[in-house]
Amino acid sequence: MKEDYFYHLGFGKKNFSENIPEWAILSGDPDRAERIAKNYLEQPKELSRHRGLSCFVGKTKNGTPVISATSGMGAPSLSIVFNELAQLGIKKMIRVGTTGSIQAKIKVGDVIVSQASLCRQGAANDIAPIEFPAAADPFLSVKLFETAKNLGLNSHIGVTASVDTFYEGQERRESANPYLIRRIHGMTEEYKNLGILNFEMESGTFFKMGLVYRISTACVCGVIAERSSSESVDRSEIEAAEDNAIKVAVQSIS
Ligand code: URA
Repeated sequence: MKEDYFYHLGFGKKNFSENIPEWAILSGDPDRAERIAKNYLEQPKELSRHRGLSCFVGKTKNGTPVISATSGMGAPSLSIVFNELAQLGIKKMIRVGTTGSIQAKIKVGDVIVSQASLCRQGAANDIAPIEFPAAADPFLSVKLFETAKNLGLNSHIGVTASVDTFYEGQERRESANPYLIRRIHGMTEEYKNLGILNFEMESGTFFKMGLVYRISTACVCGVIAERSSSESVDRSEIEAAEDNAIKVAVQSIS
């Protein structure tokens, strides 16, 4: 880093008087990143609010320093944030997201840990060949799953479909687009039959970057939509579902 702050994140090594944290939690939503820092970390401090990528630092109850960063929506934005956090020196990242379940048994409020992702994302193809596995760190993923179980949450672990678009790519027909292209029709049913648990928009590129950059990655999402019965998000349950996923991530950091 030639300048004393990263171009997109808006903060840099100069912001840290102590050692640079090894851990980061990534949220798509800047408000979630702030909520994690202020409600779930001790001694929270704002690092930057730049380009909508609000970032904070704090400590877990056992004193481990953690950055709570915003990845933005979708893989291109996440890839930039991931790269700059890696330049800073972060070694382990947990994505805390929201998701739509595909399997009927997975309900709003449940949490899903992604062991690997079907990666249908353009950004990932700039980082590794299309066939490169989008797999999480298995040890960190099991840790997330065990924490979720210990918290008494309805939890699932399995394969996630990680796609670039919320509407078309997740086969939403009730949107402004009057024409859903042919290859998308029936995709949700096909994924369900393949045993895929859920749709989200970042984990595929996130996991590939983790393997390429030698950074440990894992992803936990709170379920806010049940795609086997509806296209819509259950707005009344968003905060509770997010809180479930946040608790799992924060309590898995040691
Ligand atoms: N995030 C997604 O990508 N899809 C959903 O249905 C809900 C959250």
